[in-house]
Amino acid sequence: MLRTAILAASRSARVQRLVTAAPVSRGVVNRFVGGADTDAAVAATRELVHAGLTVTLDHLGEDTTDRRQAVAVVSAYRQLLGRLADAGLTARLGPLTATAEVSVKLSAIGQALGTDGDKLALEHAREICQAARAAGATVTLDMEDHTTTDSTLGILRELRADFPDTGAVLQAYLRRTEGDCRDLATAGSRVRLCKGAYREPASVAYTKRLDVDLSYVRCLNVLMAGEGYPMLATHDPRLIEIGAERAKFYATEAFEFQMLYGVRPDEQRRLAENGNTVRVYVPYGAQWYGYLMRRLAERPANVEFFARALTSR
Ligand code: FDA
Repeated sequence: MLRTAILAASRSARVQRLVTAAPVSRGVVNRFVGGADTDAAVAATRELVHAGLTVTLDHLGEDTTDRRQAVAVVSAYRQLLGRLADAGLTARLGPLTATAEVSVKLSAIGQALGTDGDKLALEHAREICQAARAAGATVTLDMEDHTTTDSTLGILRELRADFPDTGAVLQAYLRRTEGDCRDLATAGSRVRLCKGAYREPASVAYTKRLDVDLSYVRCLNVLMAGEGYPMLATHDPRLIEIGAERAKFYATEAFEFQMLYGVRPDEQRRLAENGNTVRVYVPYGAQWYGYLMRRLAERPANVEFFARALTSR
C-alpha cells in the first residue's frame, strides 16, 4: 500500500511542487542523486573515484515526450562525457571498461516517440556512443518495462556492430531472462544483471521474491560461466556473496559489482577494498524527483530517512 502511495505521489505535480520546494530536499537528494547538473555530477564522480570506486552516470530524463527533449538529453550526455574526459575520469580499466561511463534509458532519447521511435533512439544512442568513444568511456543501455525489452535488445545488437563495448541490462524477474543471458554471455559482451524495478504482470515476470532471487542466481551462473563481462547490480548480501563465490570458482576477475548511489555505501567501499571492481550508478539532473520517489517505493525503510530529513534543517 505504501509503495502504491509513493508511486502515486511520484506522479502528482502538486506533491512534486511541495517536495521540490521543501528545504528537505537537499539532504535527501544529496544522498541518492549525484546533483542537479553536470558540474555536480562530475564532482560526485571524482569523489567516488578517489574512494576507489568506478562510476556509471544516468542523466535523469525519463519523461521524454517530444524530439526536442530527446535531442536535449543527447546533448546533456555529450557535454557530460566531454567533461568527464577533461577531468581525467574516463581512464580505461581494460578493453571493455572505463573508470567512468554512462547509462542511458532509450525512452529518454526517443524510443517511445511514435512508430519511428526505435530508429530515433538508435540514431541518438549512436551519437552518445560516439561521444563516449571520443572520451574513452563506454555506454550501458538501461532496461525499462518488458514491453521495451525486444526493442532495446535489437538496438543493442545494432550498436554493438560499431561499438562492441556497449553494455546491456537484463532483469532477473523476467521469465525470458535466463535465455537472454545465454544469448549475451559471449566474448566481449558486458551484461548488467539486476532484479528489475518495474511492476510487471505474472505472465512475463516472477512475482514472488524467492522466485526472482532464484532466477537471479541461475542468470548469474550463466553469465559467470560464459565468456562475457558480468556486472552484478544488486544490494542483496546473499547474491553478492554468491557472486563472489562464483567468481572464485571460475577463477575470474573479469566481472564487477554495481550498486546505486547512496545505497549501502559502506558495503561498496568494503567490496572495493577487498580488490573487487565496484561501480556506483549515479543519477543526476534536474528531473531527480521521479527517480527519488521510485527509490523510496522500492524500499519503504527509506521513507523513514526521508521523513526525518523533511522535519529537520
Ligand atoms: P532488494 O531490493 O531485494 O534488496 C535486497 C537486500 O539488499 C535488502 O534486503 C537489503 O538487505 C539490501 N538493500 C536493498 N536496498 C537497500 C537500501 N536502499 N538500503 C539498504 N539496504 C538495501 N532496474 C531495472 O529495471 N532496469 C535497470 O536498468 C536497472 N539498473 C540498475 C543499475 C544498478 C547499478 C542497480 C544497483 C540497480 C538497477 N536497477 C535497474 C534496479 C534493480 O532492478 C532493483 O530494483 C534494485 O537494485 C533493488 O534490488 P536489489 O537487488 O538491491 O535487491
